[in-house]
Amino acid sequence: MKSLLSITDIKDEIFEILDLAKSFKDGKIEGKPLKDKSLAMIFQKSSTRTRVSFEVGIHELGGYPLFLSSDEIQMGRGEPISDTAKVLSRYVDGIMIRAIEHSDVVELEKEADVPIINGLTNLEHPCQALADMLTVKEHLGNFDGKFAYLGDGNNVCNSLILICACLGMNITVACPVNYQPDEKIVHIARKIAEENDSYIIITDEVELAVKHATTVYTDVWISMGDEKESKKRRQDLKKYQVNEELMKLANPDAIFMHCLPAIRGEEVTSEVIDGKQSVVIDQAENRLHAQKAIMYHLLK
Ligand code: CP
Ligand code: NVA
Repeated sequence: MKSLLSITDIKDEIFEILDLAKSFKDGKIEGKPLKDKSLAMIFQKSSTRTRVSFEVGIHELGGYPLFLSSDEIQMGRGEPISDTAKVLSRYVDGIMIRAIEHSDVVELEKEADVPIINGLTNLEHPCQALADMLTVKEHLGNFDGKFAYLGDGNNVCNSLILICACLGMNITVACPVNYQPDEKIVHIARKIAEENDSYIIITDEVELAVKHATTVYTDVWISMGDEKESKKRRQDLKKYQVNEELMKLANPDAIFMHCLPAIRGEEVTSEVIDGKQSVVIDQAENRLHAQKAIMYHLLK
């Protein structure tokens, strides 16, 4: 049994999963490979893309989803994660979870007898990163360019650093000093990048990151759970906004990416996210294809 909690869990299978995702997208895989398989989906936080793409994805593969809002299951009233893991393992073939704490997902995985899929935690968003790399490949043709991430060094940023390292893609992250990505993740990613002859630069200089970039990526400044710090975050992250002026520093044919939801006028201007370099809707679509590949890989 294998789970996907972190990009590192599929370190050596990423190219294979991306090829599989492309095959699903191109309609090359026929039949219902996950016929009658069930996927429990636990959500401790809101979601549009993750919920809908997993629900539709498992249905298209022949299986079926069970949407479990944490408010409506006993886990939300304090039932131990270990009991939840053991009980659900007797009913379903896999569990997708969007959790507040990454450590809860680690515990769930330890106690469960079925594969666990991380649908976002405070530390990582691996399904997003896979869909993002499928999008990069489609638009740029390869992973040879320079990936620039700007803003908050959050869950999405952590998974992007890891996946770039695994694919041998150069990445430069520009964040204010107090908003830098997780140190342990960067340490692990640097070791992987070294093996793949690519670099990871973490800086607070926006220009250094964006210059010659082939991809410019940002995410919200106020992630779910950070609402109490809203005012300070808007202030601290102000100069990391992706706007037209900044995009001019990147390659002329660079693409703009964002995992969504986005706040226009904060981390990105509407000119950029709604402009011709933006591929954000393709990215959202690719969540469906990437997750079908993940479910096929883990549940078949
Ligand atoms: N990008 C992403 O995970 O979106 P949702 O929060 O809508 O699932
Ligand atoms: N960093 C964001 C991503 C949402 C998909 C958050 O955690 O809220």
